[in-house]
Amino acid sequence: MFIKNAWYVAGWSHEVSAGKPLQRMICGEAIVLFRSGDEVVALADACAHRQYPLSSGQLVDGRIRCGYHGFEYDSDGVCQRVPGQKTVPAKARVRRYPVVLRNGWIWIWPGDTAGEGAADPGSIPDTPWLTAPEWDGVTFTHLYDCRSSLVHDNLLDLTHEAFIHETSIGDDAVYENGITVEVTKDAVVVDRFMPNCHPSDLYVTAMGVQPPMDRWHTTEFRLPSLHVIHCGVTSPGASRESGYHIEVLNAITPATENSTWYFYGNFRDFALGDDDINALMRSSLSQVLAEDADALAKQERMLAEGHASGSDVLIAQDAGVARARRMMQQLLDAELTEPKRDRHAAAVDA
Ligand code: FES
Ligand SMILES: [Fe+2]
Repeated sequence: MFIKNAWYVAGWSHEVSAGKPLQRMICGEAIVLFRSGDEVVALADACAHRQYPLSSGQLVDGRIRCGYHGFEYDSDGVCQRVPGQKTVPAKARVRRYPVVLRNGWIWIWPGDTAGEGAADPGSIPDTPWLTAPEWDGVTFTHLYDCRSSLVHDNLLDLTHEAFIHETSIGDDAVYENGITVEVTKDAVVVDRFMPNCHPSDLYVTAMGVQPPMDRWHTTEFRLPSLHVIHCGVTSPGASRESGYHIEVLNAITPATENSTWYFYGNFRDFALGDDDINALMRSSLSQVLAEDADALAKQERMLAEGHASGSDVLIAQDAGVARARRMMQQLLDAELTEPKRDRHAAAVDA
């Protein structure tokens, strides 16, 4: 049960090289990504002949050749060559998925391509920080052993930082300060302001600031696949614009029912080009992401083994979680029952 009529990040552009196809599970579908000229192509990863994975084949002159009996498919997924015969059966073709490259990410549309607004590149969220020269940062790719909804919950309730990330980025100010939640047409925005607090040692070191400071993080969840956490630190009482800023990008893509791709970027507007700070951020944030992976895999096991005692008990800090869950369910319902209707409009109307 996936929301498929949406853009998801399938990977980083640099992961798809000229020489080798790459298999990715996206929303339960096996997909092969490869380069054909300047473009990245995404096709169903099962040959029309005998379902052999095309990702186990070879790239030949912009086509992908099946490794089993040599069918060759072009970038539209149409077979152009069957070894040993002149004619190619009309049914020898595989599905092609819409793909857009933007700011180093490969965005893919796994859903219907018919209907108003389907696969419209204009609905892909902007992520300029990934490539703008005014920002520097580090990136990671993980495959988490949990369903995607657990990752969304995790990012919309950052009070877990004080506990799961106690030894890395955690501090008590996160749960000691409440949140405000704003809902727009296609986003849930959760803002937390933490005045006069001690930012984590990682940020104090990276920014070179003296606590106490004012701190905030604003999670902007662009449904259904991207969370951008706008973070910052200032001198007490100063404006947010005047501070140090970090943009944390979290592209969440369901792989299967119980595994999720996590494409992560942490980009800052200070210490640009500083290799020492990049190394510090890389080592510290890899610990943070490993802590999340461990917690979410434990949750997944409890759910999968049927140990849940009932529905979740939600608290005040879960206001964003509750709104997002409702909107995600409405998007899914709208897709299942009204495939031609504008999905975001359905979510807001209901
Ligand atoms: S399975 Fe691909 S050519 Fe036979
Ligand atoms: Fe976390």
